[in-house]
Amino acid sequence: MTQLLTPSRRTLLGGLVAAPFVLTGRARAQLSFSEFPFSLGVAAGDMTPDGFVIWTRLAQQPLEPNGGMPMKPVTVDWEVATDEDFRQIAAKGQEQAWPELAHSVHVDVAKLKPATRYFYRFKCDGLPSMVGSVTTLPAPGSMVDKVRFAAVGCQHLEHGWYTAYRDAARQNPDFMFHYGDYIYEYHDPWPRDREGLPITPVRRYSRPTPMSLEDYRVRYADTKLDGDLQAAHAVCGWYCTYDDHEVENNWASIYDQENDPPEMFVYRRRAALQAWYEHMPVRCKPTADGLVDFHRRVDYGTLARFHYPNTRLYRSDQPCGDNFKPDCAARHAPGQDMLNAAQWTWLEEGFRSSRNAWNIVPQQVMVCIPDRREKGGSQPIYNMDSWGGYPAAQQHLLEIFAKAPGGNVLVVTGDEHRNYANDLILRDKVVASEFVSTSITSNGDRADDDNSANMLANNSFVKWINDQRGYVMTEVTREGCTGDYRTVETVTKRDAPVASAAKWAVAAGKPGLVKA
Ligand SMILES: [Fe+2]
Repeated sequence: MTQLLTPSRRTLLGGLVAAPFVLTGRARAQLSFSEFPFSLGVAAGDMTPDGFVIWTRLAQQPLEPNGGMPMKPVTVDWEVATDEDFRQIAAKGQEQAWPELAHSVHVDVAKLKPATRYFYRFKCDGLPSMVGSVTTLPAPGSMVDKVRFAAVGCQHLEHGWYTAYRDAARQNPDFMFHYGDYIYEYHDPWPRDREGLPITPVRRYSRPTPMSLEDYRVRYADTKLDGDLQAAHAVCGWYCTYDDHEVENNWASIYDQENDPPEMFVYRRRAALQAWYEHMPVRCKPTADGLVDFHRRVDYGTLARFHYPNTRLYRSDQPCGDNFKPDCAARHAPGQDMLNAAQWTWLEEGFRSSRNAWNIVPQQVMVCIPDRREKGGSQPIYNMDSWGGYPAAQQHLLEIFAKAPGGNVLVVTGDEHRNYANDLILRDKVVASEFVSTSITSNGDRADDDNSANMLANNSFVKWINDQRGYVMTEVTREGCTGDYRTVETVTKRDAPVASAAKWAVAAGKPGLVKA
């Protein structure tokens, strides 16, 4: 009996062809798997000029305990080729998928050619995975004219379909930057439409609020079964970071939002960060203390230097009661910081030594600090979970930007569930601009509040706001950076139209956003 599990020679996104996958009677006899073990897809990330990390996780029953896998290591073969039919093999090997790490596989592939597109796949017991594609970075010091990357994140599964991901995949970017909230730890008990009326969510997470490692793993499995998300991983490599919802809303270092004892919260954080590692194509591993720190620096030829700080793991607790609040003394207290000393040194050194045309800072929470007071409000209101809760740290960051050789600095952010185009001001001068990407689905088709027009009126450095779902595609050239704010008409219906809501640009040597 022949069982066809995926359509053979299925063309994925114009050019990427999935290998034929047919379970023949003979192959089945050789298998220890009852189900396709690669149902969570494949991914690549953390590209360097000579390599990248490729990822998969064996899970024949992804929503069951331990992914339906035996409690023993499983050998996985991997291949990297320059052609999608795997005739020109550039590298291959074997890796153990360990039950301790949910049978995830992270292969750090090296000694490849720069600026070269590769195809990769895994095999287990002769069964091939789907095929992914990833491009190595340009050689160090090489003259590169252009790079395009999508800023994606905030993808609450229950809030909608991942249509924006398929659009991002079709745009064929060089890479994707994930700014966090790959999973959400909370269920939405009362999903609502634009009018605030109840709706049936398009789908549900399969377990209640996660506390254990196993619960977090199932959250990722719920998410990674999505075909649009798998497509976005298949077309290019990603640089992944986490924000708060990979653990819990608005956590900060060892503090959770309920003020539980930190010595208890760190157990939950350890489980959550391990699960993040197990499901991301990243090089950083959990330490013995249960920390996972992704901060790293990447040069894209001489065109751009990308600095990826970690704004969640080391920060002080949010001041003034967290969330959207008026100013208070704790916001200005000595030591109220977003990064730790080691990261500040790393960031300063990264900027000081950069000779690239652009310095780009993809990170998690908004650097711009707008006054969010509602109409008629008597005092400024700030988002204490963003850099707005850490004004001295924000000034420190802007001082680093102001000293950047050439002055070309761009920040790319998520978290707000709202598109923004911001200028970042230090002593009345624009020292950088910030593209804030909305969310793939989070908030569904609703806006967080109806304060956008008011915020634009009260904050001259906020140039544009939009409350739709989507992502930002940024194109960087020596002449300038352009952010294309792609938005989806609705996330509650499948395959809704995606279009550009606006394009904002900043020219090299001329700080300040202009409409493109
Ligand atoms: Fe989010």
